[in-house]
Amino acid sequence: MTEPVAFPEDRTCPYHPPAAYDPLRGGAPLKRVRFFDGRSVWAVTGHAAARALLGDPRLSSDSENEAFPVPSERYVGLLRRRTPLLGVDDPEHNRQRRLLIPSFTLKRTHAVRPRIQEIVDQLIDDMVAKGPKAELVGDFALPMPSKVICSMLGVPYEDHAFFEEQSRRLLRGPELSDVEDARDRLEDYLRALIEAKQAEPGEGMLDDIIREQTAEGEFDAEELAGLAFILLIAGHETTANMVSLGAYTLLEHPERLAELRADPSLVPAVVEELMRYLSIVEGMLRVAVEDIEIAGETIRKDDGVVFSLSLVNRDESVYPRPDVLDWQRSARHHVGFGFGIHQCLGQNLARAEMEIALGTLITRLPGLRLDAPAQEIPFKPGDTIQGIVQLPVAW
Ligand code: HEM
Repeated sequence: MTEPVAFPEDRTCPYHPPAAYDPLRGGAPLKRVRFFDGRSVWAVTGHAAARALLGDPRLSSDSENEAFPVPSERYVGLLRRRTPLLGVDDPEHNRQRRLLIPSFTLKRTHAVRPRIQEIVDQLIDDMVAKGPKAELVGDFALPMPSKVICSMLGVPYEDHAFFEEQSRRLLRGPELSDVEDARDRLEDYLRALIEAKQAEPGEGMLDDIIREQTAEGEFDAEELAGLAFILLIAGHETTANMVSLGAYTLLEHPERLAELRADPSLVPAVVEELMRYLSIVEGMLRVAVEDIEIAGETIRKDDGVVFSLSLVNRDESVYPRPDVLDWQRSARHHVGFGFGIHQCLGQNLARAEMEIALGTLITRLPGLRLDAPAQEIPFKPGDTIQGIVQLPVAW
């Protein structure tokens, strides 16, 4: 028998699944992979099986469960702590999600679009004033969603350097102590902010939520700080990675980029195909709380399960020629935002941010190009959200 594939592995090209996952592609939708601690875990790689399992309440997101799989050493501490919303099952998950849903509807997001456009324009003005070169992650892709989520939540943007740094340490901190310390600092900061807002509510989503829940009295400052923490983290790292990796991928596909420049109405379709193609959330974790029969296999209670979103989104039976970037195809039903009860709450906002950021960038900077050889551009390791570390560009 061949050795099970190790998971996660680093990508070899920032926009393709790791070459080391080639043996996992095609064939059965569930395979065995090996985690860093030697544990054997089910990898879900087929599209139909992924959607069936992500909608199955016998798979739990509760990372406090002793049997929950941990993808690498530095996540041990983080995952062993309770993560509101993302790490909670129904019915508690539903209670928390209901509080936030009104702030993320299509209508609410639509109303934020002019503010997003203003932020994007300002960042590009600043780049142009300093240009004709920039570092696209630090100058654009990261501050954009960061400013948007701060302004939506009612978090003072003056504190952005603090929480961008903590977020970086949390998601990519070299040491376990970084990860834990970053989470502590962020939660302390947010708890203090919420207590101040409880005393005197102002403008912003957190303030609205505080007003509403004070009437219902269901959530205390601790729980609200936990939810705000998830929104801050989920709300800027992911989008920042999609914008920088999306820009890199477009620059690496000049013919497709020319097509897009000629017809900017393609932007929404481009964003959807980039979501499928880039699958920046590479491994989504669950643990079985009961036996599950699926695709001729039995997932036993306490088995760990990882969804390789890049492989699921390149399932050839759903997306022909899956390795080709092609926005003429329908990328609908991709699982880049997950699926089931935890499906991304911020997906309307994320789409608006990506459309405005990438659309404006290529229109306002028609000469945009990489300012370093593509192979020298550093990208992120396999156990975290995928993206570019630094992206030198010129125009
Ligand atoms: C392109 C950017 C984004 C990507 C690729 C993305 C991806 C995802 C994925 C895959 C999940 C499911 C996780 C799971 O099932 O375990 C998720 C959940 C979530 N996302 Fe996003 N996300 C993005 C942007 C955002 C934004 C802008 C926000 C909001 C500010 C946000 C808030 C959330 C929240 C709150 C959840 C947890 C939902 C729940 O557990 O019910 N995300 N996201």
